[in-house]
Amino acid sequence: MTAARKAYRASIIHSIGDPAEVGLEASYEYYEDGLLVVTDGQIESLGDAAVLLAHLPEGTEVIEYPDALLTPGFIDTHIHYPQTGMIASYGEQLLDWLNNYTFPAENAFRDPAHAAEVAGVFLDELLRNGTTTALVFGTVHKQSVDAFFGAAQQRNLRMIAGKVLMDRNAPDYLTDTAESGYNDSRELIERWHGKGRLHYAVTPRFAPTSSNEQLAAAGQLLQEYEGLYMHTHLSENRDEVEWVKSLFPQCDGYLDVYDHFNLLGERSVFAHGIHLCDDECKRLSETGSAIAFCPTSNLFLGSGLFNLPKMEQHRVRVGLGTDVGAGTSFSILQTLNEAYKVMQLQGAKLNPFKSLYLATLGGARALRLDDRIGSFANGNDADFVVLDYNATPLMRYRMAQAKTLDEKLFVLMMLGDDRTVRETFAAGESVHRRD
Ligand code: GUN
Ligand code: ZN
Repeated sequence: MTAARKAYRASIIHSIGDPAEVGLEASYEYYEDGLLVVTDGQIESLGDAAVLLAHLPEGTEVIEYPDALLTPGFIDTHIHYPQTGMIASYGEQLLDWLNNYTFPAENAFRDPAHAAEVAGVFLDELLRNGTTTALVFGTVHKQSVDAFFGAAQQRNLRMIAGKVLMDRNAPDYLTDTAESGYNDSRELIERWHGKGRLHYAVTPRFAPTSSNEQLAAAGQLLQEYEGLYMHTHLSENRDEVEWVKSLFPQCDGYLDVYDHFNLLGERSVFAHGIHLCDDECKRLSETGSAIAFCPTSNLFLGSGLFNLPKMEQHRVRVGLGTDVGAGTSFSILQTLNEAYKVMQLQGAKLNPFKSLYLATLGGARALRLDDRIGSFANGNDADFVVLDYNATPLMRYRMAQAKTLDEKLFVLMMLGDDRTVRETFAAGESVHRRD
């Protein structure tokens, strides 16, 4: 059989290193007139169009995108699909927001038909925004995760998700037990983990809503299966941090609760991490754990300002998260816009090449998937997006003034959103086309 080969011609950029480690210039590759060759859903090669076109097998289809920039698909390292229908709920900080809006909305996911409907809306919204991989919270109901993975499998996406574990400090209608949470998680792991491009994440909601027994059961699951993720929240809100200290007086702070139950590790991703001390950052680093930086959520809930330079100093892996529905946008471009402002408020900078890294390769590294996604390395999954420099009249006008690549990238990140995403590809197939 001949290979299913296609080539995409456009300006092309991808990150190849963290600017904090290798410097800005060595952190990316850019081809003004580039060609991305895709075979059987994987990257075959990337380079200058003039060079690669000369060697393409005769008859290869070449698709051209003038005035566009190809990048790897965006990676969202923290998002809640059941909160799609309650994004933009007014007026509260974390703990009241959970009680007043989030828990009632999540209750509806006991109905598999509702879960299936929202999973479809959610994944289509991710793809409209150029996000091809996400680390996703379900609800406490195992049927929420069945619905999510079913919809992801249909679209052949690389996705990570899990059932929420929550056996206390939440409404009765939304709690499991240490035993049922463990059994339901096992069932879902057996059914979905490693199937196609799907991965399972053991998902205790956050320390306050799990008993010691449940956190211990989460640690046990991680021991029992290879390659599982651990996904939770950490140090998001000051009242939450104090509450954790009162619930776990035997532990030395918030992170230590998770550490005590063996929940830190190379596939552990903690959302937020705003109020962390140096020792906690050090511990995240030495265990290879990652943080999801969720600026739109942190500003929306008034949680605080994430200190990215401190994470860089401690060499903690960081990805970007939208954290919908506390986050206010599915767009990773909009998330970068807010990340820039969070850094400004702390007297720091967020260079557009660092932003590109966070949205792609940095996210992949946080998820330990950089051998599959996040860059155009040969053999990687062909998950990529086509960004339109002229997506709106204002962008067209502003881009005409932009002289350098970093200026153009920065404008994309400040003014861009779902309208900027002209087309999204997953495993080499078009899964969203704007027009
Ligand atoms: N902490 C515990 N649950 C949640 C949630 O659903 N969203 C956010 N932002 N923080 C949480
Ligand atoms: Zn969250």
